[in-house]
Amino acid sequence: MADRTVLTAANFHLGASTYLLNHSVGRPLKSAEAAFHQAYFAPWAEQDEGIWPAWLSTIDQFRQSLGQLFDAPAERFCPQSNLSSGLTKLVMSLPQLVSGQVLMSEQDFPTIGYVLAKALPRGREQIRFIPAELDVTDPNVWAEHMGSQTVLLFLSHAYSNTGAQAPLAEVVELARTRDILSVVDVAQSAGVLPLSLTHLAPDFVLGSTVKWLCGGPGAGYLYIAPERLAECQPKDVGWFSHANPFAMNIHEFQYHEGSERFWGGTPSVAPYAIAAHSVGALVGHGIDAIRQHNLSLQQQLIEALGERVVSPWEPERRSGTVILHLGAHQSQLAPALKAAGIAVDERAQGVRVSPHLYNSADDVARLIEVVKGLS
Ligand SMILES: Cc1ncc(COP(=O)(O)O)c(C=O)c1O
Repeated sequence: MADRTVLTAANFHLGASTYLLNHSVGRPLKSAEAAFHQAYFAPWAEQDEGIWPAWLSTIDQFRQSLGQLFDAPAERFCPQSNLSSGLTKLVMSLPQLVSGQVLMSEQDFPTIGYVLAKALPRGREQIRFIPAELDVTDPNVWAEHMGSQTVLLFLSHAYSNTGAQAPLAEVVELARTRDILSVVDVAQSAGVLPLSLTHLAPDFVLGSTVKWLCGGPGAGYLYIAPERLAECQPKDVGWFSHANPFAMNIHEFQYHEGSERFWGGTPSVAPYAIAAHSVGALVGHGIDAIRQHNLSLQQQLIEALGERVVSPWEPERRSGTVILHLGAHQSQLAPALKAAGIAVDERAQGVRVSPHLYNSADDVARLIEVVKGLS
């Protein structure tokens, strides 16, 4: 188990502004600098005959911390540089996708559409989109779009543009009963929405540590359910995907029996040194505690701003992000918040506000004051 350590704002690299952009990039832990030195540079002092055992143990720690975060065995997670790259490898590895369709939503992050249109054998014609105007929080919408052609379902756990959560458990279960493979994107939920992969039992999960996990870019991951491994035959491989990376026979390649078959060539190490520390620290603090704090600051916004909050109000339907829209006054909102030193951003649905454990009720009160001054 990770150490139980309560984190506060003082543990993070924060600037002068009130930072509410955690759906974009989470702020790094101050302790990540020493942890990075310890994992990446310090081993050279003791192991100048071979650095890899120490470096690989850092990547192992990263996988262990993901195991704790997602309540699943560590060996099911294969490091990937980001979701796009992991999805490309996954889609190209599945023989089932020679024909058939992938079901996704127009509300998914655009990179997913770009990847699928290029990586699927017949490209765009193999994608079925749920139109953006339909309600992806309603399991019936998913049920209606799963057709006889659907081979794979792509589902985002949280949508940062609408501040909504997908009905993950219902939709993954629905896919399972119809023999459709499921891939869950946890980029916007990992670290703020507790998730047990043992309970959910999806086929695949893709994520990173960029946002709520505060672990920076470069430390992505692909989770593969054990019963799916044998049918996955990645095309994008390398010696770390080999059953024995040191076999060194150029004519013979044999897939690693585990999730490592998706690994590739020489792995990057530096991002995992930072991310292993960060995920471990956040798990130590408790993802439930992070979510409770996030929900209480969201509640403060909803109670003070009412209809100006256009994202879901029911706690179980909310993602980590609240969306604000002021109708006719909307164009003034982002500039006013910027002038007040409050960091947020804006999408078509409204201004995105994402409170993390280092944000306080005072931060939210200041934001509320600015909003009330406009409308
Ligand atoms: C839901 C979701 N998926 C994926 C990504 C990014 O994917 P990648 O790791 O390939 O950059 C984002 C980035 O904001 C996201 O919000």
